[in-house]
Amino acid sequence: MVAREGREKKVRNFYPGLFADELAEAPEKPGVVRVCSSRDEFLGVGYYDPQSRPAVRVYRFEEGPLDTALFASRFRRAQQKRAGLGPSHRLVHAEADGLPGLVVDRFGEVLVVQVRNRAMEALREAWLPALVETLRPEAVYERSDMEQRRLEGLEERVGPLYGPAPTELLVEEDGLHFQIPLALAQKTGFYLDQRENRRRLEAMVGPGERVLDVYSYVGGFALRAVRKGAYALAVDKDLQALGVLDRTARRHGLRVDIRQGEALGVLQALLQQGTQPFRHVLLDPPTLVKRPEELPRAKRHLVELVRLSLRLLEQEGWLWLSSCAYYLGVEELLEVARRAAADERRRLRVHTITYNPPDHPWSLHVPESLYLKTIVLQDDPL
Ligand SMILES: C[S@@+](CC[C@H](N)C(=O)[O-])C[C@H]1O[C@@H](n2cnc3c(N)ncnc32)[C@H](O)[C@@H]1O
Repeated sequence: MVAREGREKKVRNFYPGLFADELAEAPEKPGVVRVCSSRDEFLGVGYYDPQSRPAVRVYRFEEGPLDTALFASRFRRAQQKRAGLGPSHRLVHAEADGLPGLVVDRFGEVLVVQVRNRAMEALREAWLPALVETLRPEAVYERSDMEQRRLEGLEERVGPLYGPAPTELLVEEDGLHFQIPLALAQKTGFYLDQRENRRRLEAMVGPGERVLDVYSYVGGFALRAVRKGAYALAVDKDLQALGVLDRTARRHGLRVDIRQGEALGVLQALLQQGTQPFRHVLLDPPTLVKRPEELPRAKRHLVELVRLSLRLLEQEGWLWLSSCAYYLGVEELLEVARRAAADERRRLRVHTITYNPPDHPWSLHVPESLYLKTIVLQDDPL
């Protein structure tokens, strides 16, 4: 496998992929390949599949096989880097952990995996035994039912891979215990990537304050707010997730108000009902942009959401705006907030900007690995 002249720099610089048009020579069939420059210098070892985008995924940057020993060393390294993060965390974050196409979330003794590309699918017999032997979980469950997989031409795979099949995921986060039915859960079951923002909110919120958690899922933000003595209203369209929220609140002797519905519609209804304003409004939408051409429409939608949120925000209140879409970056979030604030005649200051947490590493060499951004703004009247 030969990279086109000039494209070898990408791999030399630890980018773990080459597109089909970046190859000068490619084998006829999918399989493990040694990747070289046009001057025959060794670059890495990867897996080639013309049906995949990128066509080559690079798994090592030194000579050697893509075998169980390699994957075991990747898993050990990933585990070392998560020391001290508690029982629930992302253990493997694909490219950023040197494992393009594999995501592993740890929930205590249960691992939930997502296989996102053809290479990792083909290499299953090498990495799965390594995962089990290195991490010694009680069970491994697969949730490979994401859109990315369909784009790779792969079927969905959902079910147990090792050990007893868990029906529920027991997620513990800072003393909150969630019981999430696995088959119905979104993604790998829990949005681990917002843990640090949830902690931030809990540190900032005070008794008697009002918190509006829009796109709440199982209420990770709302539950922390009520634990501090605040009032919280959670909004999501997923009834199953709201059911988990409700059960979790009861188990902990807490109370969160719930509205099931489409976010925009619920915000409009709250305004029409003359709801009391909130001290904190959180907007944590799903991935609104999957392709660059979707960006303008997504921004318009977000401006509308932020406008309504500002109307529901009390003076000197806090607005938390997140994007988990790679194409919707910090600059776009700031522009959205600026447009909405101008429409609503509100003056805002940027208090904090956060990025994906350390268990979802951001590799300098893989720009796509920075995907989660949150801007925290405070209403700042003169
Ligand atoms: C990124 S997750 C939110 C994670 C959550 N904040 C947490 O800390 O666990 C996005 C959530 O938005 C919900 N959702 C997606 N589209 C929606 C819509 N149009 N209206 C309301 N909720 C929606 C999904 O059900 C999902 O729970």
